[in-house]
Amino acid sequence: MKKHLVAYVNNTFVPLNKAYIHIEDRGFQFADGVYEVVACFGGAYLDLMPHLQRLEKSCIAIAIGLPKSLNELQNLVEKAYQENPFEDAMIYIQITRGVSPRAHVVDKPMTPTLVITVRELPKPSEEKLKQGTKAITMQDIRWKHCEIKSIALLANVMGKQESLKQHVDEAFWLDQQGHVLEGCATNVLAVIGGVLVTHPLDHQVLGGITRTMALQVAKGAGVDIEERPWKLDEIGLTECMMSSTTNAVLPVCMVDKKEVGDGKPGEISLRIRNMILRNIKALRKRG
Ligand SMILES: Cc1ncc(COP(=O)(O)O)c(C=O)c1O
Repeated sequence: MKKHLVAYVNNTFVPLNKAYIHIEDRGFQFADGVYEVVACFGGAYLDLMPHLQRLEKSCIAIAIGLPKSLNELQNLVEKAYQENPFEDAMIYIQITRGVSPRAHVVDKPMTPTLVITVRELPKPSEEKLKQGTKAITMQDIRWKHCEIKSIALLANVMGKQESLKQHVDEAFWLDQQGHVLEGCATNVLAVIGGVLVTHPLDHQVLGGITRTMALQVAKGAGVDIEERPWKLDEIGLTECMMSSTTNAVLPVCMVDKKEVGDGKPGEISLRIRNMILRNIKALRKRG
């Protein structure tokens, strides 16, 4: 692995410590942008096209023209990885509306800013995998377009800070009725009466690529699936898990200091995690 990280910034690859954008970039001024995170295992990407398609959808939703075609973006992601060839990597792609004098309104065509950075993908500790993760719940204070992968993540940062303060791994957002929507950087699923349940896709949750993968592998293994609003105190709830690109699926064994089920990583959660890890292993071989 090379010593220096390299970033892609608006058509050039530069050392990360020399990678800058203008202070009047609308990403900095207004969080006027969107992003993606893709995982790469041994040189093979997990669902790269679905991630890029979601990026395109996010751009369309806030009327930013995609600065490159999906194929060009794919090539750039691959080049960025070649510049930073970690065995396992996470690749961030960020697009903002571009640079202009600070004013809310945009009245002229703009050139979007495109940044790609690569970091080593952190692995969850063995202890965390054995014991399961912990979460707290918080009232949802986010905006009403959580289906867009916006870089405006202030509420998510606050939720994560609160979870750090309370020595847990994630904060789950609850709607007014107490339904679990998703986490600050994860989707949340539960096993209720043997059925895998997760909030349906609407404006309150991000359509997680790993969520889709988890539902697919569970279905393939004969587990029934239900996409519906759900609560943590439902009768028959035995397992909880969270899904994300950076962590696949992780069992959640404690929420708000209460044990989920028997307080141990659930059987279905572990099965789903292991099926995803098997897919990643097969992918790695092809990389
Ligand atoms: C709010 C939110 N929900 C869900 C997810 C999981 O999405 P994915 O599985 O595509 O990484 C993320 C990932 O960053 C997220 O930020």
